[in-house]
Amino acid sequence: MKQELEKIEKEALEAIRAVSDPTGVRTLNARYLGRKGIVTGLLRKVSGLPPEERPETGKLANKLKKRIEKALEKAVQVFEAGRDKAAEDALDVTLPGRPLAGGRMHPITQMTQAICNVFQRLGFEIVEGPDVESDYYNFEALNIPRDHPARDMQDTFYISENIVLRTHTSPIQVRVMESQPPPVRIIAPGKAYRVDSDISHTPMFHQVEGLMVQENVSFGDLKGILTTFVQQIFDEETSLRFRPSFFPFTEPSAEVDIRCVICRGAGCRVCSHTGWLEVLGAGMVHPAVFEMVGYDTERYSGFAFGMGIERIAMLKYGIEDIRKFYENDLRFLEQF
Ligand code: DAH
Repeated sequence: MKQELEKIEKEALEAIRAVSDPTGVRTLNARYLGRKGIVTGLLRKVSGLPPEERPETGKLANKLKKRIEKALEKAVQVFEAGRDKAAEDALDVTLPGRPLAGGRMHPITQMTQAICNVFQRLGFEIVEGPDVESDYYNFEALNIPRDHPARDMQDTFYISENIVLRTHTSPIQVRVMESQPPPVRIIAPGKAYRVDSDISHTPMFHQVEGLMVQENVSFGDLKGILTTFVQQIFDEETSLRFRPSFFPFTEPSAEVDIRCVICRGAGCRVCSHTGWLEVLGAGMVHPAVFEMVGYDTERYSGFAFGMGIERIAMLKYGIEDIRKFYENDLRFLEQF
């Protein structure tokens, strides 16, 4: 009887170990512990043994029953744990996807592209130049010699005695003319740097430079091109005026105002009650600049202009503080 018990236990435990699904566990449970099960049958047999054998064999049979019960329980637990884990890992394909935060272009980038697009449609080509410039391109070749009072107009960041962060995009004019003969029709956007910081100035800002050189270019052409530009960026009703001014690299020079986009000329805080807003500097390229790049001053004439992109964007969108562009506040940036 003892041997029989051992044999049954060995078989049972092996069968339980080999079981591969919950149904298998149930089958084994029935086979060993069910009403007609093997172990149940054994216990019944025990009661038929001679009284002196009963206690010991009964004990053994009960222990066997316990061990098999325990092994079966354990097997059930393993399957349950597996099922929970599977449920956790499962992918719910009906869940809505996580929304992607849409990126957008910085308002200054958008404004730059809008400005360049207008000039591209007028036949201007986009060019760029280096932010770190030599004194020669930033000043000298633009007819601003050392000790010229016009240098005071620009609070320059010096990298070394002859190297600066460009204070304007005008050096690009020189680089382009140096590299090709007329005709030239370029629009040059980029960063500019000046030691200046307040509600309308940041140490780094953006400008667009324009240049057109060929035979018979007149101030009238400049006026026509800029009128088209202003009316496409603002609206068809926007008029402009030229005020005599001074730049070393143009002669004659002008500052260009547009009719106040806020009050339409009636006078308001934005235009300081003048009805006009200054938007750019322009003029006919100075012969001294043509000489620097080796252009024939008798044969060619040209106009140039430069404007601050932040300023145009501020006027177009009614932004009062230029520093808003560079604070990286998404509540501001996401409006564009
Ligand atoms: N470079 C000037 C500035 O920084 C702007 C400017 C004025 C550019 C007249 C020009 C020009 O090309 O003709 O403020």
